[in-house]
Amino acid sequence: MADRNAVVTGYGFYAPPRVVTNLDLEKMGVDTSDEWITSRTGIKERRFAADGETTSSMATRAARIALERARLRPQDLDLVVLGTCSPDYLFPATACLVQNALGAERAGAFDVEAACTSFVSSLAIANGMILAGSARNALVIGAECLSRLLDLKDRTTCVLFGDGAGAVVLEASNASVGVESAVLHADGSKGDLLWVEGGGSRVPATNETVAQGKHFIRMQGGETFKLAVKSMADAAEEALAEAGVTANDIDLMIPHQANIRIIEAVVKRMRFPSDKVFVNIQRYGNTSAASIPIAIAEAAEQGRLKKGDRVLLCAFGGGFTWGASVMEWWGVPIPDRREKTIVQRAARTVDDLLDRVRPV
Ligand code: ACO
Repeated sequence: MADRNAVVTGYGFYAPPRVVTNLDLEKMGVDTSDEWITSRTGIKERRFAADGETTSSMATRAARIALERARLRPQDLDLVVLGTCSPDYLFPATACLVQNALGAERAGAFDVEAACTSFVSSLAIANGMILAGSARNALVIGAECLSRLLDLKDRTTCVLFGDGAGAVVLEASNASVGVESAVLHADGSKGDLLWVEGGGSRVPATNETVAQGKHFIRMQGGETFKLAVKSMADAAEEALAEAGVTANDIDLMIPHQANIRIIEAVVKRMRFPSDKVFVNIQRYGNTSAASIPIAIAEAAEQGRLKKGDRVLLCAFGGGFTWGASVMEWWGVPIPDRREKTIVQRAARTVDDLLDRVRPV
């Protein structure tokens, strides 16, 4: 291990309160069924943001909880790195909206766009900057408001995705633990298998592109599925090798929550014990960049991540992009009473946060 390591000192997540079950989708006119969605994807329900909630407002809520847990003041942050493919605006970066809402006045801020691999990519960048000595700490966020990009007439995609945000605080440490490896890959030749075609500089938004639904997510599910399994498993093996460990050394694997069948196939391919795999897709669906940090936060809250545990993250997404990371969990034990205060205080401040996000 290097002299200087980056350790997770805080974590938090926010899932918007509106639960949309598979039955709700049927009631909304989607030609589908709970049986089809459950058996093909493992998803039972997902969260949709309320009117007025955005990627940045959800990210800010998750970030506030992570900062509280890390006992780090926003004004002491060096960096805000936010992974998303559903930003509030094409620009300014959603990270800047969060930086402003938090009052992280000293921090640099930028977005990372690698679709569902955005959080793993953001973590790799933040880790690299901390190891290089150019940042002492970083707020690393994955946040998505994918419900705004869903075509409810396209049942092959609209049943899969949900909204939410997760965040971790990464800090430089002399401890011998931390992020042990981070590998990233891409194959841009397959970009059109999973994309939002319209609204950028190549296909600018016009009445026609909107009428054609080009501002919605489109996906070739079968091809995506096959590549996701191989790529996530390969990246996970590579990250294990780079960290100098084997699958036996991993206490918890947190894969991107895209589809339970993808997760099962990755686990089978790696011959990894399924009881060491964290799964919450049944409650949130595919929240893209947010899925891994939400899962990290839930796993920690449920006591499934203990100090010294070794964690394997792996992701696959549009681009195509894929990557994986191994880290030793540092963890800060927090008494129950303080935990409740943190979450309640974050909840109380949300209106204030939304107000501070809006004027930009
Ligand atoms: N409800 C009911 N029927 C449906 C639905 C639905 N929501 N969607 C598709 N069908 C139908 C199809 O029309 C098709 O009918 P047909 O045989 O009459 O033509 C039938 O179900 C089978 O369709 P397939 O596409 O072959 O179904 P498949 O078993 O491949 O499952 C799925 C589709 C779930 C999308 C799967 O391909 C998948 O999970 N792919 C990966 C998707 C994914 O995880 N993407 C994200 C990864 S990257 C990222 O996170 C951004």
